[in-house]
Amino acid sequence: MKSTAAPLLEHMDSSMEEDVRECANHWKDKEGNLIMILHEIQNRLGFVPREASLLLAEETGVPVARIYEVLTFYHYFKLVAPGKNNITLCNGTACYLKGIERILTELERRLGIKDGETTEDRLFHIETVRCLGCCGMAPAIVVNGKTIGKTVPTDVAGLIEGIRKQEVGHE
Ligand code: FES
Repeated sequence: MKSTAAPLLEHMDSSMEEDVRECANHWKDKEGNLIMILHEIQNRLGFVPREASLLLAEETGVPVARIYEVLTFYHYFKLVAPGKNNITLCNGTACYLKGIERILTELERRLGIKDGETTEDRLFHIETVRCLGCCGMAPAIVVNGKTIGKTVPTDVAGLIEGIRKQEVGHE
């Protein structure tokens, strides 16, 4: 039978395709395996691309709609490739009141992306979340796992530049 996912798989490199098939195969006889397969795919690829869902549907017989339902139900799953440097902004009440929106606007303006998006070069990803649990530091952001408190819009340029310089140093 001809693969129904074939037209979409042209953007999927063969190692990714192999990863998806291996994950599906590894969990195929286990009960409640869909979520385990999706976890393994995300662990390997860093996210669950649309092409992977289509191929998975074909491999397992689970409808794509069901796979999509699971992926969107759990906040953990990423549907787009994450950026190399992740900037998370707290949108909880304290940070909101202290002006996190202005930090977000400045980041969006300088990086040319919106909340939840990744720059084309995959260098930066920004997203907002609910309370980070450090309200005394509002407005708070997390940059690659490091929490930075009492941020102001004028911090943004230096922050981006610092990351860019680091990246150049790693090349
Ligand atoms: S509201 Fe931002 S850390 Fe709690």
